[in-house]
Amino acid sequence: MSAPAPRPLIDTSQAHPARVYDWLIGGKDNYPVDEAMGEKLPPEVRVGALQNRAFMNRAVAHLAGLGVDQFLDIGTGIPTAPNLHQIVQGIVPSAKVVYTDNDPIVLRHAEALLVSNPEGATDYIQADVREPGVILEHARTVLDFSRPIGLSLIALMHFIADEQDPYGIVATLVSALPSGSHLVLSHASNDIFPDIAQEATEQYARSGMTLALRSREEVGRLLAGLEPIEPGLVTAPEWFREQPAPRPEPSGMYAVVARVP
Ligand SMILES: C[S@@+](CC[C@H](N)C(=O)[O-])C[C@H]1O[C@@H](n2cnc3c(N)ncnc32)[C@H](O)[C@@H]1O
Repeated sequence: MSAPAPRPLIDTSQAHPARVYDWLIGGKDNYPVDEAMGEKLPPEVRVGALQNRAFMNRAVAHLAGLGVDQFLDIGTGIPTAPNLHQIVQGIVPSAKVVYTDNDPIVLRHAEALLVSNPEGATDYIQADVREPGVILEHARTVLDFSRPIGLSLIALMHFIADEQDPYGIVATLVSALPSGSHLVLSHASNDIFPDIAQEATEQYARSGMTLALRSREEVGRLLAGLEPIEPGLVTAPEWFREQPAPRPEPSGMYAVVARVP
């Protein structure tokens, strides 16, 4: 019998993005240090996190409705029902989803992500988006890269500073996708509510986390070569396919679904 795999080390002395986000959206898989940090954030950040999660639900359901049955989700976060695979497999039961996050707490809870509908499949890899080649290599063992894929980078790229080449990372991931694939992206802004953005950035920095909030123009540059589908690059609560869309609430989160031509 082989030895059990070592449990991932969870650092409970410092706040972590996945756990702070879990606290923001009302989850229970966080520690006092994450809650203490979350409490200090402007209340709009919690609103933005909930709006972001709701956008994720709508966007991936839309793609599944188009028949997209393969998803690569990077920066998955701590499982929160409904998880991406539960949404898309509710529409396309045979959908396959590969999840990725670099935080050991997500690996610790990954079992919840691996309970797939029997007709489909889910997989989890602990990996860093700054190593897109590693993620792609693994994803190719599960997904068929000759058919359209939904790549979701949801509330992830604002953790990647310019020096870490966010534009190159997205370009590398997108260039691996066949025509007809889609990128689902959301990103916290610094130009909608600049004061709140500044306060949140400082609070994250005090807890040892880098936030690289971006303007609409900068987020748009992440979509180079792609074709945003309706309603384009908007704030998260404005991203609605049904007409008439509900009257959106204010939000500091940008959201977009863009097609690979
Ligand atoms: C704000 S949460 C978003 C979770 C989920 N995508 C959602 O929108 O509901 C951001 C996630 O990105 C992960 N993350 C941050 N930096 C990362 C990196 N360099 N590589 C992979 N994941 C990362 C965090 O651990 C966290 O789980």
